[in-house]
Amino acid sequence: MEMEPERPSSQRLESLIPALKFVLPYTRQVGFALVALIVTASVSLSVPLGLRFLIDEGLSANGAELLTTGIFIFVGLGVVLAIGTFTRFYFISWVGERVSADIRVAVYDRLVRLHPGFFEENAPTEIQSRITTDTTLLQTVVGSSASVALRNILTFFGGVILLFLTNPKLSIVVLVCVPLVVFPVLMFGRRVRRLSRSSQDTLADVGSHVGESLRTIKLVQAFRREERDLEGFRERVAIALRVAISRIRQRAWLVAVVMVLVMAAIAVMVFIGGQDVLEGRTTPGELAAFLIYAFLVAGSVGAISEVWGDIQRAAGATERLMELLQAEPAIETPTDPKPMERGGAVAFESVSFSYPTRPTEQVLDDISLLVEPGEMLAIVGPSGAGKSTLLNLLLRFYDADVGVVRVGGTDVRAAALNDLRRAVAYVPQDTALAQGTIADNVAYGLQENADARVSQALEEANATGFVSELPDGIETRVSEGGHGLSGGQRQRVAIARALAVDPDVLLMDEATSALDAVSEDAIVTTLNRLRGTRTVIIVAHRLSTVLAADRILVMDRGKIIGEGTHSSLLDSSPLYREFAEIQLKSPVPAFDSAALSDAVVNAD
Ligand SMILES: Nc1ncnc2c1ncn2[C@@H]1O[C@H](COP(=O)(O)OP(=O)(O)OP(=O)(O)O)[C@@H](O)[C@H]1O
Ligand SMILES: [Mg+2]
Repeated sequence: MEMEPERPSSQRLESLIPALKFVLPYTRQVGFALVALIVTASVSLSVPLGLRFLIDEGLSANGAELLTTGIFIFVGLGVVLAIGTFTRFYFISWVGERVSADIRVAVYDRLVRLHPGFFEENAPTEIQSRITTDTTLLQTVVGSSASVALRNILTFFGGVILLFLTNPKLSIVVLVCVPLVVFPVLMFGRRVRRLSRSSQDTLADVGSHVGESLRTIKLVQAFRREERDLEGFRERVAIALRVAISRIRQRAWLVAVVMVLVMAAIAVMVFIGGQDVLEGRTTPGELAAFLIYAFLVAGSVGAISEVWGDIQRAAGATERLMELLQAEPAIETPTDPKPMERGGAVAFESVSFSYPTRPTEQVLDDISLLVEPGEMLAIVGPSGAGKSTLLNLLLRFYDADVGVVRVGGTDVRAAALNDLRRAVAYVPQDTALAQGTIADNVAYGLQENADARVSQALEEANATGFVSELPDGIETRVSEGGHGLSGGQRQRVAIARALAVDPDVLLMDEATSALDAVSEDAIVTTLNRLRGTRTVIIVAHRLSTVLAADRILVMDRGKIIGEGTHSSLLDSSPLYREFAEIQLKSPVPAFDSAALSDAVVNAD
């Protein structure tokens, strides 16, 4: 909702047509509802006829018997009306809920398969609000507004016909009066709707402020932003209040205007109709029936105009949802995928790449690289060199603009995504863990929760030690993001998560934040355990990790500018020498450098 002003939607009713596809499976229920709708509308329209009969015949000389029969018929109609209303309400709401649930699932099903780049061009928060608010809007329309509109359209036409049948002369008076009443109501109604819309938007604003400030509560408090945040919040609340009050004012006016106009219209009709009764041109019952019909007709016009705005908004909502449903994944399994060869060789053949959102910036520039099965390759380079990007291409989060990326000899674009991502596992730079236990996290990529795999992976990742010391062992819960574990522990759980799927290639994007010497040591031990078992590509920020590798690659500004072992690179690459010197000069201050040299020695 928040973002809507930037994406005006046409609100054309045709936009609703694609949503009909989602209604189609429920035609039976829609059919029940329609039958009920027609029955209730007919019954409602026949009531004034009965009333007319009762007044004119039942209240006259020999009416006692007629009166009793009439009352029975009346009650009978009431029962029919009740059953019809129940059926209509139940089935229409049922269909509304079903359809919006189906659309939600369909949209999410599309979203989770879209390439990550899509969410850089389309803000996830906006998409989130589309899934919730837009589907809710659609639900209201399918589940109630549409039925209100249909019922009132029936009532309107039925009412007009019956008006003319009852009294053509007065009908003309009514048809002149109806626009006079309805037009101002429409005007006010539109303004009220607009305000209630912007009142919703400002309320959403209030909500997002709370969300943002509570999510970063430590930042807020550490930087003493409480007062300023509160001030900002007060302003938003005040704006929401202002909008709400002006909406209420318009609404109050609306009610007053409607009252006056309706009363005036009744007065006119009663005056004209009353004279006809006095002069014997019409009966009292006819006049009563007529007045009720006039009410029904005017009411139906009002109701239609009331829900019309909803229907238009739903058209806009549908358009946006359908846009999401039609988003084409840029990264997809090809129609005829090649089987992946196992073994874990990795190759980049003259690969160049720019991110779609920044097409002018060449992030990878003609990269060629061969990694043998079982080799451990470390990539070093300054921040922004393109190291993480290299891993992104291996996982096929993006496709290379030029060149070919191969895993196990297969072009990643020719393989099935599932096969590729089974063969390549990933430890991200921001070792985010999911909410749940450590065991849940390690089993994240497994189809079934295999306890044996989990403990084996933890062992391989050198995590068994610290995990068993936690109060609940592998059943210890970690909170969202992995808080409650140290950086090094989190990283090892993330490594275990990657190893649990038994990949051919392990990609590891080392966190840039410094780990303490003990954690660092533990990671090096982990890497040494992995040596030779599978291909490992590590984006490294620490010398200790680099030293554990078989081969080192130096990257800068999207190019490979050096390659070799630690000692050969110290000679050949000034950038590498700089990196190594900084690392050696600044061991973790609180620790003696023994731990670091330990780590270095362990690496051999
Ligand atoms: N999703 C993205 N959209 C646009 N540009 C991006 C995106 N991700 C990274 N970049 C840009 O691409 C370049 C390389 O980024 P990359 O993440 O590969 O660097 P890195 O070598 O991993 O750096 P670090 O060591 O800090 O993690 C940077 O200039 C960065 O701004
Ligand atoms: Mg990176």
